[in-house]
Amino acid sequence: MLNIKIELTKNPKAKPDMVNNPPAFGSMTTDHMFIMDYNKEKGWHDARIVPYSTIQVEPICMSFHYAQEIFEGMKAFKSKDGNPLLYRPDMNAKRFQRSARRVMIPEIPVEDYIQAVTEFVKLEKDWIPTEPETSLYLRPVCFATQASVGVEAANEYKFFIVACPVKAYHTGFNTDDSCWVETKYSRASEGGTGGDKCGCNYANTLLPQANAEARGYTEVVFADGVEHKYIGEISASNIMFVIDGVVVTPELDGTILPGITRDSILSLCRKWDIPCAERKISVDELRDTLKNGKCTEAMSLGTAVVIEPIGAFGFEDAGRLTVGDGKPGPISTRLYNSIIAMQHGEEEAPEGWVVEVK
Ligand code: COI
Repeated sequence: MLNIKIELTKNPKAKPDMVNNPPAFGSMTTDHMFIMDYNKEKGWHDARIVPYSTIQVEPICMSFHYAQEIFEGMKAFKSKDGNPLLYRPDMNAKRFQRSARRVMIPEIPVEDYIQAVTEFVKLEKDWIPTEPETSLYLRPVCFATQASVGVEAANEYKFFIVACPVKAYHTGFNTDDSCWVETKYSRASEGGTGGDKCGCNYANTLLPQANAEARGYTEVVFADGVEHKYIGEISASNIMFVIDGVVVTPELDGTILPGITRDSILSLCRKWDIPCAERKISVDELRDTLKNGKCTEAMSLGTAVVIEPIGAFGFEDAGRLTVGDGKPGPISTRLYNSIIAMQHGEEEAPEGWVVEVK
């Protein structure tokens, strides 16, 4: 159990107007941050919540040079009684451990991670917005701080959590979202870090994302990195389709992030008797089923995006193809409404999914 020291800010910031002037996603932080250090002698130590501030590191801080860094994305909502609600925080804690192992960062015990998030959110609860489509986005990060340009696992790290009041990540729940199907650049490859939440996975997507935008698409979905034939995931989210009435998503082959929204959707489909499958979906299958009308819905999904219906896909050989009738489909709509209601404590969730912080 962590012994978390708390130092309160003397200069609280004004809260944003989430209706008329919401900050751009992730651009505004709350008053405080959680922080904890690691070194070989003491292990993880000195857990504290302090006023939000800069962190001093040397220019030769190892994570700047070799990207030894991992992160998580979580959201806090407010219950009817005004308490913070967390959505499946144990899954984030376990995924953070898996990501840590992959890049040789010392793991944080699940209970310590959850305690840190919980105590931090309790302190920042007045920052949780309640307007439609808003939440307090939490960003836990762990990075190497040792000063050295040697390529090796560092022996000093910091773990911090910051929070940002946010509105919808992209376009919100409508079909304004569109995806270019990228078959030249890849996001992840077998044996790489694609299935873990490492910052390096995201830098790699920026150029293809900019290219997709230049072509008139809002996002890019990557094909696999070996044959460039199978659909993988979007830069910052998983993807799902409804093909022939079956909800399908790429299988977790190590290149796909095991998303918590992805897992929630598959569980809900099983509960509701909606057929679902985790399998390979080829670029050809997607193009052909969009053309013959069998692919009726497509969704971008993740903690930040929640569920965003995808209105159209762009292909090198087929141009722009609309998904279904171009409107959010019934399965995406039912899933979105249910997940949002569970996250706000308005609909009963499976045991352990929604944690009220008191
Ligand atoms: C999330 O969905 O929480 C993510 O971490 C994706 C992202 C904003 C990079």
